[in-house]
Amino acid sequence: MKKTIEVFTREKGKEKIAVLTAYDFTTAALLNSAQIDAILVGDSLGMVFQGYNDTLRVTIDEIIYHTKSVRRGAPDSFLIADMPFLSFQVSPEDTIRNAGRLVKEGFAEAVKLEGGEEIIDKVKALIAAKIPVMGHLGLTPQSVNIFGGYKVQGKSLAIAKKILSDALLLEQSGVFAIVLEGISERLAKLISEKLTIPTIGIGAGRFTDGQVLVINDIFGTYGEFSPKFAKKFANVSEEMEKSVLLYINEVKTGKFPEEKHTFKIDDEIINALL
Ligand code: KIV
Repeated sequence: MKKTIEVFTREKGKEKIAVLTAYDFTTAALLNSAQIDAILVGDSLGMVFQGYNDTLRVTIDEIIYHTKSVRRGAPDSFLIADMPFLSFQVSPEDTIRNAGRLVKEGFAEAVKLEGGEEIIDKVKALIAAKIPVMGHLGLTPQSVNIFGGYKVQGKSLAIAKKILSDALLLEQSGVFAIVLEGISERLAKLISEKLTIPTIGIGAGRFTDGQVLVINDIFGTYGEFSPKFAKKFANVSEEMEKSVLLYINEVKTGKFPEEKHTFKIDDEIINALL
């Protein structure tokens, strides 16, 4: 059964929440039949799908396109669509219009926004417009140029305090869950204990209420690089590479296609053509 935002809050502290990203119909169908708790169409697609070095190029139209594909594959899954860079920073009106498209055209149940106090007016505007919001704090990838790279956040008291107060502010503003990315395990634990809404960790250790990973990282299909916090649960790219090499070989040697892969036609039609 599809989860709802109330279920996520009710289940805090009971069962861990498992979330994965997806960007296409086929993968979404796989996650849907595995009954994943939620699917995120993340702006990480800018890196793992489009091949950029960061997430900053992704547009709202691209997120809508992928959200539509994922929804068709995962009709029974709770679907969260990411708000890409500059789709929510400009004004509350702009934010509602863009998030509204993710719901209306993409069929998402909720949207995710990176940031804390500085975007709280946009978060409140969305919730007033009845669009469920997931927060995202810590190593927020859209701030890569402010951070000067993908660096673990919250190591100083000042930044740790800011992440905690942003989490409390987001909760007060009505978000139903918060992604905590790239922060120490102890800080993530402390924040998770202070909140009544669930925290979903990525590179935030063992004590968050759930985990999210980029699907390519668990499949092992994103080049050679694997972040420290991710775990390759399979080496799918090795299998994909093997199948491509086998295919090339069989085409060249005439081993593929075999008779069983072919379609028939009546002799008299061929004879008439001859
Ligand atoms: O874009 C994304 O996929 C994300 C998750 C990794 C949290 O924001």
